[in-house]
Amino acid sequence: MVRHEVDGGVAVLTLANPPVNALGAETRAALDAALAQAVADESVRVIVLAAEGRVFVGGADISEFGKPPRPPSLPDVLERLDACPKPVVAAIGGAALGGGLELAMACHGRIAAPTAKLGLPEIKLGIIPGAGGTQRLPRLIGPDAAFPMMLTGEPVPAGKAAALGIVDAVVLGDLVAAARTRALELADSGALPRVRDRSDKLTAEARDRFEAQAAEAVKRDPDATNVHALVRAVRAGLEQDFDAAVSVERAEFRMLVEDPRSKALRYAFFAEREAARVPGLPKDTPRRAIETAAVIGAGTMGGGIAMCFANAGIPVTVIETEAGALERGLARVKDLYAGSAKRGSITEAQRDERVGRITGAIGLEHAGAADIVIEAAFEDMGVKRAIFSKLDTIAKPGAILATNTSYLDVNAIAAVTGRPQDVLGLHFFSPANVMRLVEVVRADKTAPDVLATALDLGKRLNKLPVTVGVCFGFVGNRMLERRSRAGERLLLEGALPHAVDAAVTAFGFRMGPFAMGDLAGLDIGWRSRKDFGGRAPVADSLAEMGRYGQKTGRGFYLYPDGARTGTRDPEVEALIERVAAEHGVTRRSFTPDEIVARLMYPMVNEGARILEEGIAARPGDIDTIWINGYNWPAWRGGPMHWADTVGLKTIAEALTRFAAETGDDSQEPAPLLKKLAAEGGSFAGLKNA
Ligand code: 3HC
Repeated sequence: MVRHEVDGGVAVLTLANPPVNALGAETRAALDAALAQAVADESVRVIVLAAEGRVFVGGADISEFGKPPRPPSLPDVLERLDACPKPVVAAIGGAALGGGLELAMACHGRIAAPTAKLGLPEIKLGIIPGAGGTQRLPRLIGPDAAFPMMLTGEPVPAGKAAALGIVDAVVLGDLVAAARTRALELADSGALPRVRDRSDKLTAEARDRFEAQAAEAVKRDPDATNVHALVRAVRAGLEQDFDAAVSVERAEFRMLVEDPRSKALRYAFFAEREAARVPGLPKDTPRRAIETAAVIGAGTMGGGIAMCFANAGIPVTVIETEAGALERGLARVKDLYAGSAKRGSITEAQRDERVGRITGAIGLEHAGAADIVIEAAFEDMGVKRAIFSKLDTIAKPGAILATNTSYLDVNAIAAVTGRPQDVLGLHFFSPANVMRLVEVVRADKTAPDVLATALDLGKRLNKLPVTVGVCFGFVGNRMLERRSRAGERLLLEGALPHAVDAAVTAFGFRMGPFAMGDLAGLDIGWRSRKDFGGRAPVADSLAEMGRYGQKTGRGFYLYPDGARTGTRDPEVEALIERVAAEHGVTRRSFTPDEIVARLMYPMVNEGARILEEGIAARPGDIDTIWINGYNWPAWRGGPMHWADTVGLKTIAEALTRFAAETGDDSQEPAPLLKKLAAEGGSFAGLKNA
């Protein structure tokens, strides 16, 4: 786990625990032993701490959290490192995150490669740094610079880290040699700079700025237990001595590890990574080369998808049927890039490079040279089948043919080609250049190498690909449809749009379903129900009245003078009562908890059916989709994890009740849910079944 080499009075200790050198028990013990050995070795004057691989250290081993602690603890190892009588300099070649940065900060010097990034992302796991990070970072760069870093969890690149004072220098070339030089300089000067001894950055102004930031953070997210804990830990460091403040941090950390929010976030972390592994698709499945792409359709979706390729350095041709649509599409893409450059999120050179990778063309024949073709035309089976049958004659042999559909049967689309093995679905989310999630739809005949290539490509495009099977709406939209249906039903039964939306935002979504509908446009769901069947009596009535939502100033809510937040509309509330009466529904009041149950339990039930049918391989895939594509609050771990925390028996019993109350048999618990509920089981337990 730790290589130990001594040369010319310098001991180089190299962490070697792939893939991210996480500081699990064995690594900690090995590091501790190597340090002790280097201290005891009289020929060693100084120590360099390096790491193998792309990542310096990805942090403490998250999988150990919540399990019985195994010595030596990270804080203990870091305390000994900090107290080491010989200078120790960290050579940071890649990401130093969480415990990784804490390790580096316990050294007496830090040298970074330009590719390094440094940060304390613990907040994203529902915890706070627990090995001195909340104490050393403020001492190193001031509490007013450290607190925002720990609050957002966003790492900083090496250059910025040097400017802030987190690292002593950024060097090109031989990092370990530079760290040796720095360590020997320290030894020659007799200095042993310990971060814990510093107080020069803890000025009155910096403290005041931190207090203002803290007040704002707590106000913004009053329920986030870890934000409160972070504030307390940083404040302790300003009011108490280092050791006392570290004890405060440690106590807060221990408490947070047991917090259900943190458990859910850690679950989501591993679920996201597990989603990359598709059961039955061996790691060594061959891949097809993807060097060029074509996107059919220059609409919002097609343009966004083309940008993903351009951003990843892959040249892409955007194909339209007529010049006007193409020009408008390309202009929109250019504007988006110009906006990013203006905001400073990309440089002007990057803007030009990316725009330069996108070529427009009229006519499908221009897709002939592409390694992958993504069709992003209308959501209409006829249109898509016509395109695929033409593509079959145009695309080069071995090209991957993908359809960006949100609902349609990918098998039926593949069937019009003579090469269904090369066809799959890639369901991007809007805006495609921003949203990370992509549902990768594996059709019945999709070849394993096509699927493996698509998953790799997803990563190259900086996306989060999750494999799903063919069914109407795949995983995300299929479950969403359940929620929409339940929402309409709630309106008829007595809950008003603002009450439903308030319950859903209190649950943790950024927006409730009706505000969301107004934002997306009520005409969209209305048209799709016309095409695919289904009725949403209230939403359909609104759409029929031309109330399409924000874009028409009226939908479920009113948006006077272009307002972005809607206000209640008595006319809509009267309409709802009228429709309820027409349907003979007796109205009553609902508590926020009842509203949440009515909306979310049917989604969980649909999730169970999706698992039974093998549309998703595991509950974690469903949760990853909902967290990353539909804004499900990550700290609730996704619908299936959340269902486990509620209890499947409670959910199954409630669904039986809902079915009786609403006369809707489809609310009856799915066989899998029923079985798990009867056994006292959970979705999490399915993995081990
Ligand atoms: N603990 C345990 N496993 C970890 C880990 C960690 N800290 N970080 C990554 N891994 C595992 C992943 O689960 C994955 O495993 P798998 O191959 O079996 O699925 C593998 O390492 C590779 O991870 P990624 O797929 O994420 O690799 P990338 O190269 O895309 O990203 C990374 C590397 C940027 C380091 C990313 O893994 C990451 O962000 N890791 C978590 C960073 C983090 O949150 N650190 C703080 C941990 S908590 C802490 O340190 C507490 C301390 O204050 C006491």
